[in-house]
Amino acid sequence: MKISRVFKVNGKPFFPLGGQVKNSSGYNPEELETAWKALEYIRANTVEIPVFWEQVEPIEGQFDFSVVDKLIEEARKRNLRLILLWFATWKNGHMKYTPEWVKRNPARFKRVITHDGEAIPTLSSHCKANWEADRKAFCSFIKHLYEKDKDNQTVIAVQIENEPGIVGSDRDYGPEGDRDFKSSVPSVLIELISEKEGSPVHSIWKQCGSKKEGSWPEVFGRWAGELMTAWSIARYIDGLAVAGKEIYPEIPMYVNAWLDGGEWNMAGLNYPSGSPVTSTLDIWKWAAPHIDLIAPDIYRGDHKAYLNACQLYSREDNPLFVPESGASESNALNMFYALADYNAIGYHIFGIEQIVDDDGSLRPEAEKIAGSFQAVSAALPLLIEYQGTGRIHAVVQEEFKSMQILDLGRYVGLVKFYQVVPHSQKLGAISWLDYRHNPAKLVNERGRGLVIQAGEHEFYVLGAGFQLFLHKKDAPYNMLTATQASPFLQRELIDYVRVEEGCFDEEGKWVTIRRRNGDETDFNGIWVQPDVGVVHVVLNDAI
Ligand code: DGJ
Repeated sequence: MKISRVFKVNGKPFFPLGGQVKNSSGYNPEELETAWKALEYIRANTVEIPVFWEQVEPIEGQFDFSVVDKLIEEARKRNLRLILLWFATWKNGHMKYTPEWVKRNPARFKRVITHDGEAIPTLSSHCKANWEADRKAFCSFIKHLYEKDKDNQTVIAVQIENEPGIVGSDRDYGPEGDRDFKSSVPSVLIELISEKEGSPVHSIWKQCGSKKEGSWPEVFGRWAGELMTAWSIARYIDGLAVAGKEIYPEIPMYVNAWLDGGEWNMAGLNYPSGSPVTSTLDIWKWAAPHIDLIAPDIYRGDHKAYLNACQLYSREDNPLFVPESGASESNALNMFYALADYNAIGYHIFGIEQIVDDDGSLRPEAEKIAGSFQAVSAALPLLIEYQGTGRIHAVVQEEFKSMQILDLGRYVGLVKFYQVVPHSQKLGAISWLDYRHNPAKLVNERGRGLVIQAGEHEFYVLGAGFQLFLHKKDAPYNMLTATQASPFLQRELIDYVRVEEGCFDEEGKWVTIRRRNGDETDFNGIWVQPDVGVVHVVLNDAI
């Protein structure tokens, strides 16, 4: 499968791995200090920071992008790339980052009106003045980026708005919203829906009588409010992308989504109505062709819900990018599924400052997520090279799992999730038979990582909390019996040509940091820890 590498630097694919700062950190560059530190802990190459409409256009028509300049300067100093988030008409289904002159003028900048006539603090996508004001500000911002950064490409992408949609209503019941609700559903949209069997919106359309024409409620029944709002917001944002790309065509623009599936799963109550979710994602893809991708903010800890989100947003026409996720242990594990099985082209944690304690150290609760990020950061060129080829395998120690079997072509890979014997219970160095670097520092943790098959006899392994053993499938039967009978022989008889720890340099070339042999391979198999980078293993094919 060909992966669409939306993010590029100097024409080459780039994998953004990093964090997003908390919502208000970007107001003051000094407040970003904690974030810079946190980004070092996870070995990030990219940081996502919001740019607030209220800050850059405090008075209508007067722009000040000095804060953007400062962000670019600070990122460059640290050799980080930036993804800037345009917090404007929508921020989590509200209008909280619009300038005061917008907030204070509801007669000109129309808000969403609920079914009982209340105006809520969400701008209406049906109001032309809203779009026009956002467009002007967005274009000034993009023009500024173009002039300031086109040659350096410190800013690698722009997120348009943040989790757009309406919180508090399924649609705008005001005059403009009502006019659009009662108008005919565009025939091209009905045509596309009718042809896309298997799509959630196709099922809705069928349940409502498969009508070939009609108003939104006639065609989509009780789903009409949400679907019409999705169409309207997607067109609004696509219009911003068109205007922005006329100025800076090379810069990718994406939209992030607050996922559905929470509590009662009601649009406008449990997630913003009109956002790109299960029932509306296809509408968004059709209505917003100038948006490079739609990205899920995945905070779901449970394995199944996490995978469902990856599945939904990774499609031929939409590579998976995770702009926000939690700093939880579940994410430290699940992220490997996103990288291996769903070919995620970038991955970020939200509220990155939270992983740093008051004294500047990494908080103990964040060690797992930081470890996973550190391990991945050493292997980014491998992701770019092997995603989509079926050669990247996720290793994840789900609950109750003690081992995992991998089918690695000529080899069987046996992954063992080990238990570390507490240092205090060990009798002495000689009896430990554990020759991993710093065994005293090892902790029990859920195994996780990646096994990447680079060639028939060549592998890269990374992660934490597991050991990999390899066995040739066509080995003589008696040898197989011997290795099964004796775990020691199982490790001892593997015919390695080379086992080495290392990373990749700026050009993507492999750099060996340390060779392993003897005890370091005999006693513990191919073991991984975040701080050893990637382990490169070449086996002998001569016999
Ligand atoms: C998702 C939003 O996109 C972020 O800006 C932030 O509000 C987080 N939720 C908080 O969990």
